[in-house]
Amino acid sequence: MRKQFLIGIAGAATALVAFAVLSRPSGAQQKPAVGPTPLTKSDSSKLQGPKQPIFYRHDVHAGQLKIQCQYCHYSVAASSEPGIPTLNSCMGCHNLVLGKTPENKAEIKKLATAWSKKEPVEWVRVHEVAKHAHFSHARHIKAMGPQACATCHGNLSRMPQVYKVNNVNNMGFCIGCHIERKITRDCSTCHY
Ligand code: HEC
Ligand code: HEC
Ligand code: HEC
Ligand code: HEC
Ligand code: HEC
Repeated sequence: MRKQFLIGIAGAATALVAFAVLSRPSGAQQKPAVGPTPLTKSDSSKLQGPKQPIFYRHDVHAGQLKIQCQYCHYSVAASSEPGIPTLNSCMGCHNLVLGKTPENKAEIKKLATAWSKKEPVEWVRVHEVAKHAHFSHARHIKAMGPQACATCHGNLSRMPQVYKVNNVNNMGFCIGCHIERKITRDCSTCHY
């Protein structure tokens, strides 16, 4: 029943993930699992990386709930930009998942409010190379595989808040790997 209900309202893709979460054995059925480390919004200023308008946690979603990176960053293998998900990708679950603790409830409420007002969330961008340098995700994912994210971004599934593990605003970051893997270092491949 629960499974059909989910598929009916949330769409097959989301429901599959949500069902995997909700159908865990034992008492976990009613309550979605808690994050690996209990943290609240007030902790977010002590964490590495910029504070975001909503305390969205990769360690909870990509780590504990095991949602694939490309479920949200859907264009990473097809375009230069991986894409930051729209609230559509969140609300399939958060129509149902309202949060257990008061802190989680408050953060998820912000999400629902933004959704109902059709206001996109203004996420603070963490990685961005200068305009004179060109980087394409699709090219790198094709060559390095869909699990390559951690090579450049570190292990997001353990990060409560995104921060820069590698300084992407330094040519040495690119060149170091290109030398190791015998990829071109011709200036015009990156600067044009
Ligand atoms: C597959 C289902 C699913 C999707 C998709 C999803 N979430 Fe969640 N989210 C959860 C669950 C389960 C929790 C844990 C709730 C709890 O224990 O209080 C959670 C918790 C949260 C929380 C509370 C803090 C935390 O991380 O524990 C926020 C904020 C949140 N989600 C935001 C988002 C945003 C923003 C998106 C879209 C980019 C999103 N979620 C997509 C299932 C999902
Ligand atoms: C449920 C949706 C969701 C999943 C799953 C997810 N992300 Fe994200 N990701 C987001 C959102 C929303 C943001 C913007 C807010 C933030 O930075 O926390 C983001 C931001 C990022 C950023 C920083 C972007 C910037 O501004 O530089 C990186 C890097 C990233 N994600 C990588 C990953 C990787 C790698 C995985 C898989 C291990 C993953 N994400 C899984 C939703 C998701
Ligand atoms: C070879 C290194 C490398 C790999 C591998 C890589 N990234 Fe990135 N990522 C970058 C760089 C460099 C930037 C900044 C790009 C720019 O400013 O155009 C970035 C930016 C991002 C952003 C922010 C983009 C935005 O529009 O705000 C997200 C999200 C992201 N990466 C997700 C991922 C995911 C998910 C994977 C794995 C599927 C991945 N990355 C693999 C180097 C990498
Ligand atoms: C961890 C390793 C790694 C890092 C870091 C890395 N690259 Fe690459 N890059 C590769 C690989 C592997 C390829 C080969 C892709 C292919 O064969 O199509 C590649 C190919 C490229 C190409 C295409 C080259 C051609 O032959 O036309 C460009 C452009 C590029 N990278 C730019 C960058 C920039 C800009 C950065 C830094 C922001 C960067 N790369 C960081 C591994 C890396
Ligand atoms: C694999 C990609 C790549 C190649 C090849 C490359 N660059 Fe860069 N370059 C970058 C990136 C990334 C940055 C840093 C951009 C930023 O600040 O966000 C950069 C920055 C620079 C800067 C600005 C100063 C600085 O350090 O930020 C200059 C000048 C420059 N490169 C010149 C060159 C010249 C000359 C060559 C050829 C000998 C070259 N680059 C080859 C990726 C590359």
